[in-house]
Amino acid sequence: MSKEILDNVKEYYGTVLQKSCDLKSDVCCTAKTRVMTKSAKEALALVHEDVDSRYYGCGLIVPECLEGMKILDLGSGAGKDSYVLSRLVGEQGHVTGIDMTDGQLDVARKYQQYHAGKFGFSKPNTDFVKGFIENLGAAGLADNQFDLIVSNCVVNLSPDKRAVLAEACRVLKEGEEFFFGDMYADRNQSEEIRQNKMLWCEGFGGSLWWEDLYKIAAEVGFSRPRLFAAAKINVTNAELEAIIGDSQFASVTYRLFKLPHTNEPVTEVVYNGGITDFEDSFKLDHEWTFNKGEAQVVSGEVATILKTSRFASKFTLTATDRQPAYNEVSRARIGLGALDF
Ligand SMILES: C[S@@+](CC[C@H](N)C(=O)[O-])C[C@H]1O[C@@H](n2cnc3c(N)ncnc32)[C@H](O)[C@@H]1O
Repeated sequence: MSKEILDNVKEYYGTVLQKSCDLKSDVCCTAKTRVMTKSAKEALALVHEDVDSRYYGCGLIVPECLEGMKILDLGSGAGKDSYVLSRLVGEQGHVTGIDMTDGQLDVARKYQQYHAGKFGFSKPNTDFVKGFIENLGAAGLADNQFDLIVSNCVVNLSPDKRAVLAEACRVLKEGEEFFFGDMYADRNQSEEIRQNKMLWCEGFGGSLWWEDLYKIAAEVGFSRPRLFAAAKINVTNAELEAIIGDSQFASVTYRLFKLPHTNEPVTEVVYNGGITDFEDSFKLDHEWTFNKGEAQVVSGEVATILKTSRFASKFTLTATDRQPAYNEVSRARIGLGALDF
């Protein structure tokens, strides 16, 4: 693992940046391209100003069906996503944030009691631990410990993405998912971009070519990445723009599921409703949206997700001889190309 990169990133997020607007791109504003749920909006309104103003993510990361979940937030920073999620999991749930930068952890820890009070909880349901996301074991995180893992604009900063994904897969319970927002590129980065300290710290230098994510995910034991949302990122600094040239970047939200080794067969599924904020319709990814009461034939992998994840109690699954409406895998290869690039 490159200590120099980690030290640069620590310095950048610990001392160089003080507020969201200090970033040199509009990455934090890509959130506006996504619909925020009523519950998330209510939670966000209660987040302390000091936490909110130190937000460096790319879109608020709020998956569905959170009640009672034990969540891990990789690179939790000042804690904005962690606190929104801590309200949504409720008093019986828990959010652990992990970050390597003391300045960020200090802000997050300072407001634990404050947020518990605002949310009407008898005690905080959060903790913020110091550590590297490439080595969660060193921070004391055990195998199959979490119901859900999230992250917001952090994986791209790591010099060792394979280690991050492998560790996330290890600490996640089977059937569940790593739901994360991150920066991706339409190509491998040139050495000039990778070696530029500010471009790395802003997330551009370490952005994976999105095709590489598919390879790494498979190698470490995750299912094929499911694209949830994407928005183009604009660099707002002329000097950095000149180095980047015509490379394109996007803020992307992916779901990676840790599934059992054998898939279900092709199956007919019906969404029965019951997911908070998504009573009428639930979007799994850009390929699959399930309207309440409507039967759809899905691939074996989607059937496995719906059978083994926290969404299981919201769906009825029935064996069928029919085939899915389209070949999922060939459509997925279009990937980001179908969206903003
Ligand atoms: C772009 S900020 C995002 C913070 C937060 N998720 C948010 O949305 O505001 C990146 C954060 O990840 C942390 N970070 C970056 N690389 C890390 C690593 N390898 N291990 C642990 N934390 C890391 C930084 O310290 C910083 O707080």
